[in-house]
Amino acid sequence: MVFITGDCHGNFRRFGHRYFPEQETMDRDDYVIICGDFGGVWGDTPEETYWLDWLEERSFTTLFTDGNHENFERLNTFPVHTWHGGCVHYVRPHVLHLMRGQRYEIGGRFFFTMGGAKSHDIEDGILDPEAPDFCDQYAALKHAGKCRFRVLGRSWWPEELPSDGEYVTALDTLERTAWKVDYVVTHCAPTGIALSMSRHNEADALSDFLEMLDQRMEYKTWFFGHFHDNRAIDQKHILLWEQIVQIL
Ligand SMILES: [Fe+2]
Repeated sequence: MVFITGDCHGNFRRFGHRYFPEQETMDRDDYVIICGDFGGVWGDTPEETYWLDWLEERSFTTLFTDGNHENFERLNTFPVHTWHGGCVHYVRPHVLHLMRGQRYEIGGRFFFTMGGAKSHDIEDGILDPEAPDFCDQYAALKHAGKCRFRVLGRSWWPEELPSDGEYVTALDTLERTAWKVDYVVTHCAPTGIALSMSRHNEADALSDFLEMLDQRMEYKTWFFGHFHDNRAIDQKHILLWEQIVQIL
């Protein structure tokens, strides 16, 4: 069995028995995929460890692509292994990060993954904690009631958008597989869809890249998150948030 859901932001209660009773009949070879903003690798706190261990204790294996709300500095410290034909970070033995530009064979189907997204909740800026006036800037924003800002290396990381190397990896993967997969799993959406979502969205390098992939790839269904809603955009593009949908 393979289920898929959207942004968690470190809150995994939806995977409890009450909301996800299907797990009773699942085992480690059954999967739940999260379309980015996993949020479980963030502050290295006892609470975070508790929830990662809690996920590890589920009957199923948790897989996630990265979103924009991940601590990439920490995520990149986990060991990389090849798993089902693609590269993963092992956060726990059964909690795996599906890396960018990879293809995995799961249940006889091929999944292409490309995490990342440009944050659209940072209109008030990115503060540098090393700046001499950081405290003043922080206090001024708080005083002005502004909360749509983030702090470099603490709540925002430039790796939210893929590097040149990750785009190359994605293209190499698709060349090797003749641009054909069964499912696409991303956090961001292709530009055409992203622009239709809300006033906060604009095209960026990743959404344009995904738009190009969308034109060129042959696939059955594309799942993405980021926009905090559950909606079938059309027959092929499915936006997920807290709903858990079975695909296999
Ligand atoms: Fe999110």
